[in-house]
Formats: sequence, structure tokens, C-alpha cells
Amino acid sequence: MKKIGILTSGGDCQALNATMRGVVKGLENLFGEIEIYGFKDGYKGLIYGNYQKMKPMEFSGILGKGGTILGTSRVPFKMLDIPTDDGIDKVPAMVKTYKKLELDCLVVLGGNGSQKTANRLSQEGLNVVGLPKTIDNDIWGTDMTFGFQSAVDVATHAIDCIYTTAESHSRVFVIETMGHKVGWITLHAGIAGGADVILLPEIPYDMKKIYKTIDKRTKQGKNFTIIVVAEGAISKEVAKLPKKERKQVIAERPYPSIAYEIADKIREKYTSDVRVALPGHTQRGGSPDAYDRVISSLFGAKAAEMIKEKDFGKLVVMLNGEVTAIPLEETAGKLKYVDPNNQMIQEAKTLGISFGD
Ligand code: F6P
Repeated sequence: MKKIGILTSGGDCQALNATMRGVVKGLENLFGEIEIYGFKDGYKGLIYGNYQKMKPMEFSGILGKGGTILGTSRVPFKMLDIPTDDGIDKVPAMVKTYKKLELDCLVVLGGNGSQKTANRLSQEGLNVVGLPKTIDNDIWGTDMTFGFQSAVDVATHAIDCIYTTAESHSRVFVIETMGHKVGWITLHAGIAGGADVILLPEIPYDMKKIYKTIDKRTKQGKNFTIIVVAEGAISKEVAKLPKKERKQVIAERPYPSIAYEIADKIREKYTSDVRVALPGHTQRGGSPDAYDRVISSLFGAKAAEMIKEKDFGKLVVMLNGEVTAIPLEETAGKLKYVDPNNQMIQEAKTLGISFGD
């Protein structure tokens, strides 16, 4: 009988359960009987041997349920070779758990850092299949990650809600979206929500360009402005600094986050009514949307097929609309940034959206 370990690692998202359901349904159909070992709270469960033997039934009825039934945690890749607080060597401990359970494969649902660890475990000789999770959509090698579209939907809804109140009160609103170091959520939700200004980490902004948009709108008789900013966005001045200094400036910023800094600058210039809104972790919560349920199911089925074919050491990805797989070592350690010259940005500029550049 096939013994499969499964874990969810890193920040959660809406379609983790949907993806696990896809994996387990696929395995059941391809192998008949299977043994599933669900590790609690991501790699921590593998390190400490904290697992549950689970029945396929336990993965039923969770297609639309957000979060993860296994729990998750962050075990940073850069800390992998540093023992846990209680002195356990992480990699040997994970290998030991895998071998003790005589697993045929470990399925890892995770983002960039988690897939780097998956690659490391594969190099240690474990059979690993990765699945691309993250609301940030920043995994190199896949057009789409599961969780992204649902997060874009939430962020778009937040912009829609702000739009009406901004208009009623003639206010400038700065809405901050998640995305870590990349601007995918911001770009998509900004366009979907009809933002006037979209600020991405990949395109450092100039406050003067933001003022220009506000002035232009005022001249047109539009009394409100919607600015959507990625949490990782930086100004042109900050972008010019050497990496170390840049990090320090960001860490010591006298504001809770970038949206507040931008709002404050606008307030200083116009003494006008400016507000900040942060959808925050709502972008990761709630149910997966229909698109995510579809790709999660397909990704899960593909992972099951790969296990059947003993095609290990790979990450399931979507390339040009097709579900396929790439070697973990090819994607590990690389981020997929928004290309400032991409067509979406060019067309958005034609629509009159400012990127602050
Ligand atoms: O990677 C997903 C993500 O939601 C990022 O967009 C964000 O920067 C980060 O995780 C937030 O992490 P935490 O849940 O630890 O606050």
C-alpha cells in the first residue's frame, strides 16, 4: 500500500484544503487503497514527528473551506541548518521521520521558502512533490499559484467598498494590499477596482507623480482618488539606496506601513481628507473562488499522477494554461516579479492609471 505524507507550509491561503482534497482524490482513484500521513503545522510536524494517520474521507467536503485542516507554520529556509530551540537538527529530523514512516512520497503545499526546503529534502534523497501555494503569485516557473485569484477577489472587493465612501466624502484613499516583495495582487486588484494610482515594488514611485494624478482628477471635477499600494512598494529615493541602507530605512520608517507614509505626504501637501484602508489578512481568508477551486483540483490530480509515475523532485506548475511540472531545483530561490514592461502595465497606462513613475 502506498504511504503518502502531506503538509502545508508558510502563510495560509484559501485553496490549501481544495488542493489537498485534489491530491487525495487523485491518489484514491489511481491507487485504490492509500495511507495518508498528515503532518501538523507544516515542516514542524515533520521535524517533531507530529502527524496523524488520516483517512481519505477526512479530505472530503473541504473544497470550499479556507485555511488548512493540517495547520501551518513558517520554518524559514535560512534557519534550516540552525537547530530548533530544543536542539533538534531540522533536516536530519525530517529525513528520520520520513524514513521511519516508510513514506513513498512527501507532498509539500507551500510558497517560495517552503519549496526551497522541499528541494533540499529532495536532495537528501526523499521523494518529494511540490504544489505552488501563495496569494502573492511570486513562485518562479508557474503562471499561477493557488490562492492568488481568491486574494485578488478579496482585495478588489475592498477597493469597491472604499470607492463609494471615498466618492461620498470627497476623500483620497490609500489602500494597501499584500504581496510581500511583489506587486501581482496590487496590479490585478488595482485594475479590477478601478484605481487611479497603482504602486508596485517593481516600479519605484515619485510622490510628485501621485500629486499630478490628484491634481488632474480635481481639474476634471473628480473629487476623490483611489491609490492602491503594495505593501512592498518603495519610493524612487529609497530604491536608489544600497540594499543594506534601504532595508534599514524601511525598518525604521516612522509609520506602521507604506500606505500611512504616502497618506501623510498627501495630507501635508493638500491638507485634505486622506484615509488609509488595509484589507490585511482578509486577503488570505475565507473560501477559495471558483478559479482557485479549479486549478487546485487540477494541480492536486497532477501531483497524484506524478506519484503514480514516480516523477519526484518536481513542482506542479501552470504554463501557458497547461498543468505540468518543473524540477524543484529550477525554481528554488527565484522570485517571479512583475515585469514593469509587461502588457498589463502598458494597457493600464493607456487607461490613464498612474504607476507613480
Ligand atoms: O506570503 C503571503 C503573505 O500574506 C504576504 O503577502 C505577506 O507579506 C505575509 O504573508 C504576511 O505574513 P504573516 O501572516 O506572517 O503576517
